[in-house]
Amino acid sequence: MKGYFISIEGSDGSGKSTQMRNITSYLEKQGFSVVVTREPGGTPVAEKIRELILDKDNAALTDRAEMLLYAASRAQHVEEKILPALKEGKVVLSDRFTDSGIAYQGWGRGLGDVVAEVNHIATKGLSPDLTVFLDVPPQTGLSRKKTEENHRLDRLETEQLSFHDRVYAGYQALCKANPRRIYRVDGTQSPETVFAEIKKALDCLLQQEEKSQDKA
Ligand code: TMP
Repeated sequence: MKGYFISIEGSDGSGKSTQMRNITSYLEKQGFSVVVTREPGGTPVAEKIRELILDKDNAALTDRAEMLLYAASRAQHVEEKILPALKEGKVVLSDRFTDSGIAYQGWGRGLGDVVAEVNHIATKGLSPDLTVFLDVPPQTGLSRKKTEENHRLDRLETEQLSFHDRVYAGYQALCKANPRRIYRVDGTQSPETVFAEIKKALDCLLQQEEKSQDKA
């Protein structure tokens, strides 16, 4: 059985967690073994890097150091968890992947193309088979986060709205440049409607594979 790599992307507060749960149970019902993971993080070492990056006390962290820490977390995650799971024919579902680096560090911090170069090294060139982008304008997403019970805003979430606007512009550019891989869903709709749309993309991905198996 072939493994699949699926990532889910979106601004902070775009509803990724709810849809991660929906996707997981949908795929598990179809008999797939699903590895649910996240970035930054996903392995013990990468989770330690996550704590460092998101800690509000680390206000002195420079933009380049931040980019490299995200990439270091990703390199560890890819080698220790994602590639082995794909080899075993599992579905890996990751809450964020390289597109976050390009949107947040490339566009948000203004570091540009160097982010893609560094991430190519970090990921050994691995790219998701499907990326679901939950399209929610930053203002909407951030106010959702602020009203979430017990949610303490992290270092990135406390950035100015102008930063989040640049991140959002980055996501729009990524969607335009990768229309086959990135499936955009209007994340302001009800969670049920959002999932109904995501299901179409999942079915399409799985059917493509069935067809290629029929040919073989
Ligand atoms: P999360 O809140 O979705 O778990 O993500 C943590 C924060 O890290 C979120 O604000 C997005 C940000 N981020 C980056 O800036 N670059 C990256 O490469 C990744 C994976 C996340």
